[in-house]
Amino acid sequence: MSAFLEVRHVSRAFNSTMAVKDVSFAVQQGELLGLMGPNGAGKSTLFNLIAGVLAPTAGEIIFEGKPVTGRKPYEVARIGIARTFQIPKPYRQLSVVENVMLSAFLREKSVAGARSLAEATLADVGLSDYFGTPVGSLTVGLLKRLEVARALAMRPKLVLFDEIMAGLTPTEVGAMTKFVASLPSRGITVVWVEHVLYAIMKTATRMVVINRGEVIAGGAPAAIARDPAVVKAYLGEEMDLA
Ligand SMILES: Nc1ncnc2c1ncn2[C@@H]1O[C@H](COP(=O)(O)OP(=O)(O)OP(=O)(O)O)[C@@H](O)[C@H]1O
Ligand SMILES: [Mg+2]
Repeated sequence: MSAFLEVRHVSRAFNSTMAVKDVSFAVQQGELLGLMGPNGAGKSTLFNLIAGVLAPTAGEIIFEGKPVTGRKPYEVARIGIARTFQIPKPYRQLSVVENVMLSAFLREKSVAGARSLAEATLADVGLSDYFGTPVGSLTVGLLKRLEVARALAMRPKLVLFDEIMAGLTPTEVGAMTKFVASLPSRGITVVWVEHVLYAIMKTATRMVVINRGEVIAGGAPAAIARDPAVVKAYLGEEMDLA
């Protein structure tokens, strides 16, 4: 049986820099896979390759048995892969609900249908009180939730989260972690890049670690927390997950 998402020997160069080097991993349906590694390891580039923002220099990406390599971002979204951006890029002249409606139009043709899907998604991420709020007045925590809502309003089967905890308060991190953890049971598979390690390591069912563009480790969070290669490249010391 083939995996839900398969990244097969994928590479991407930027001039002389190999940002992603022969990366292979698979994601099973219903998993919450954590993807971690130091700054510049190639995590966001990998998301851009899966989401069709960038084309790989080599390798293949297969989703539900079909190649997605070389497809445009809107085609990748249509087949069920949504992503957040590490630096949120909302439409600043639009309100919160209007921003999410732009995603909802992928699935809903009418304005009323898109508004209703957008409002339901915003309620889901705890933004019920902000439908009409101008995006420019949101705090970082609220902007990150908006970014998550924009991805989920596309009704994805697989969602790629890129550092949705950065800049959040500890209370916000707790709420967002719980929310992310609930997604697989609602039929949404998650691949999650995060530097807030206690959040991701306690939530992910499995981890893949990349360093300088290459996969250096993979497995259960408890094993990754004391893997010598991961400690050397990223953690600095073994992590206590208790
Ligand atoms: N569009 C681009 N043009 C040139 N180089 C790029 C481009 N995007 C990424 N890079 C380079 O590719 C490498 C990987 O970057 P990437 O943003 O994927 O890292 P990352 O793992 O997401 O890091 P971070 O944790 O800081 O977000 C870096 O050396 C980066 O400078
Ligand atoms: Mg990144």
